[in-house]
Amino acid sequence: MKKMITALSVIFAATVFIISCKHDAMAPQTTLLFPKVKAIIQANCVECHSPGGQGLPVNLTSDDAIVQDAALIKAATVDPASPRNRRMPPNGDLPEADKTIIAQWFEEGGTTTN
Ligand code: HEC
Repeated sequence: MKKMITALSVIFAATVFIISCKHDAMAPQTTLLFPKVKAIIQANCVECHSPGGQGLPVNLTSDDAIVQDAALIKAATVDPASPRNRRMPPNGDLPEADKTIIAQWFEEGGTTTN
């Protein structure tokens, strides 16, 4: 009986361990992309897309505006540039890593919670 209890305890402990490891491994997937997108926009876009800037009426200073303009932001930074789709920022492409973050954020819904 004692052996069995020991065996069960080991199985229980192992199960708890495996479950908690799995949970840790999944954690990065729940990391939000929005804060990264916002940081990219603050660093590369708001100098023009803010009150008084040359990029108005597109104003990217609030979370709501970024979400509302998600499709436009993705088009201007990720999609192929054309006369009807100006590349942003105007002085050159964002780094590939930033474009990937914006594209992924847009595909996942383009809101503040993904
Ligand atoms: C140097 C100033 C400047 C910077 C920096 C800049 N923009 Fe712009 N942006 C403009 C101007 C000017 C326009 C208006 C272009 C036009 O209609 O000719 C514009 C237009 C846009 C538009 C509207 C396009 C459309 O279809 O109407 C979007 C969206 C946009 N910018 C997003 C961004 C994003 C996102 C960034 C940062 C990655 C950025 N911009 C950085 C100046 C800037």
